[in-house]
Amino acid sequence: MRKTIALLLLAALLLSGCARQAVPAAEEKLIRVGFSQVGAESDWRVANTVSMIGALCEENGFELLFDNAKQRQENQFVAIRNFIQQGVDYLVLAPIAEAGWEDVLREVQAAGIPVILVDRQIAAEDRDLYVCWVGSDFQAEGEQVLRWLEETLESRGRASEPLRILHIRGTDGSSAQLGRTKALENAVRTHPNWSVAAVLPGEFTEAKSYELVRDYLREDRDIQVIYSENDNMSFGAMRALDEAGISYGPGGDVTILSFDAVREALQLCMDGKIDACAECNPLHGPRVAALIRQMEEGKTPGKLNYVLESVYDADDLTPAFLAAREY
Ligand code: AHR
Repeated sequence: MRKTIALLLLAALLLSGCARQAVPAAEEKLIRVGFSQVGAESDWRVANTVSMIGALCEENGFELLFDNAKQRQENQFVAIRNFIQQGVDYLVLAPIAEAGWEDVLREVQAAGIPVILVDRQIAAEDRDLYVCWVGSDFQAEGEQVLRWLEETLESRGRASEPLRILHIRGTDGSSAQLGRTKALENAVRTHPNWSVAAVLPGEFTEAKSYELVRDYLREDRDIQVIYSENDNMSFGAMRALDEAGISYGPGGDVTILSFDAVREALQLCMDGKIDACAECNPLHGPRVAALIRQMEEGKTPGKLNYVLESVYDADDLTPAFLAAREY
């Protein structure tokens, strides 16, 4: 059902056209942009695609060539080579994983096409393979939500109790996974009474997380926290907890820490089901459009452009806040 709503949203956007920004002069040539997107694995990703398509549209002076890589890096390589063939003016890349980009990006460089990275980063020694990046500080997101946990336990007088954490990981090797995982590993190292009960590779999808958590709970029910690296994996984990008859949320047996803060997760947070949501902002379309405009004017944008984000719990949320939320 959730997937259907997301796809309907996407279809509505495609039919209705774009989020208008500056009006280009009638004779102005459209800027041809190839965008290689990770996939459609999460609500966050769909919101990101909607934002990109909305901003990089004809009314704003762009011709967008879009490719959905379905969470496979090989598909991104194919898409990028196709974009070179199609003579794009810019390549926008949301890399699935950090490693393995040198060869294909050298081909893009040889073709004289500037590259903008969006959302996740790449691990390449040659920083000239891309002009700039815009996205989140994933490790800071993890640190913020773990600080929330620490402060909440302290305020409840439970800071010294043993805490077993079930860690549901996103796509291995992606910046979002690496940063959020690093934050957890550091926190466990500095809290002697915290431990990781298990790490489950949820791949950022609800279905995978549900299956893994369901199977895990058959063997071990002694967990106090679920650290889930995105909201969709939290939704899957919650379904498994429901089936196992384990309560969660403030006042429940398991504390749920989630990432993204999409509207449905914030609603669940307001309803007392998710304890805290670390925000990951997907609205990069206008940011990427602005970076391209700067480059069109001959300016060099800053290399790394971080987006500011917060952590939400039930005390921060109201129906009006949720209604005004874009994703
Ligand atoms: O890279 C951002 C992450 O990718 C989001 O947290 C997740 O939902 C998405 O799939």
